[in-house]
Amino acid sequence: MGSKLQNTQLGTSQLGYALGAEIEGLDISLNLGSQVYGAINHIWQEHHVVVFRGKHLKPRDIVSFAEGFGDLDDHASTPFYRHPDVPQLLQITNRLIDGKPSETRNTGRNWHSDYSYTGRPAAASLLYCDQCPPVGGDTMFANMVRAYESLSGTMKGIVDNLHAVYDVSLTAGINERDASKTAEVRRLNPPIAHPAVRVHPRSGKRALYVSERVSHFHGMTRAESKPLIDFLCSHATQPENVYRHNWREGDLVCWDNRTVMHVALADFDQNQPRHMLRATILGEDSGFVVRDE
Ligand code: OGA
Ligand code: MN
Repeated sequence: MGSKLQNTQLGTSQLGYALGAEIEGLDISLNLGSQVYGAINHIWQEHHVVVFRGKHLKPRDIVSFAEGFGDLDDHASTPFYRHPDVPQLLQITNRLIDGKPSETRNTGRNWHSDYSYTGRPAAASLLYCDQCPPVGGDTMFANMVRAYESLSGTMKGIVDNLHAVYDVSLTAGINERDASKTAEVRRLNPPIAHPAVRVHPRSGKRALYVSERVSHFHGMTRAESKPLIDFLCSHATQPENVYRHNWREGDLVCWDNRTVMHVALADFDQNQPRHMLRATILGEDSGFVVRDE
């Protein structure tokens, strides 16, 4: 009864069968009370991705809204890509920066969960679309709880006992970025192993935590790991398990990085501006640094 009431109050409509829900009619630029955050969290936990449309948010509005969900990351793991005035926001943009093509114009081009290559992988991300191309520039999201639950009992038993090694060097397009900056990003983020199954701290649900940024499983060779990584990624990203978001200006899309992975598609004309701002909710400390493996 409680949950139905909360959903009704917030006007929710499901966007995809596997994941994704839109919350309508809520002015998120206001100071919202803990009850409203509780209701959003409830919907978010059930649908993994929540979407707000038609907003006009300034950088500070995004930060204030995001703060209601937890402590924000100051993005020190990727310091070069922060908003110049608001370190709690990352800029994902193809606008020129200092007269040069932005380094973040091809962010997120392989399946990943945010900041998985850090010791404090993101709990959640909130991405605001300030400007988008008339066609394309979509983002896809895969439900990693369903991906885990639909494995056989035997395969669950295998992944339950694995640690996946995350390597920032496997971020798509990293080699096309400024070499000295990426060297610093690599230095800040050495390869790190996290459990291949992540348990959501609130719902207790188990989610597969393996993406295209995993180099291998701890204690296994790359050759041994690759077929399993490939299988798990293709299993997780089957079309039936994916929600594809077609952006409009003023959209704020929020995803749970513990239960979802995502990819940004390059299916648009790069001469058209695409300007996005991301707030990142800190997750728990996790993992151990892996050397010489
Ligand atoms: C991100 C990301 C997706 C996009 O902000 O974490 O992967 O579509 N971006 O810009
Ligand atoms: Mn991302």
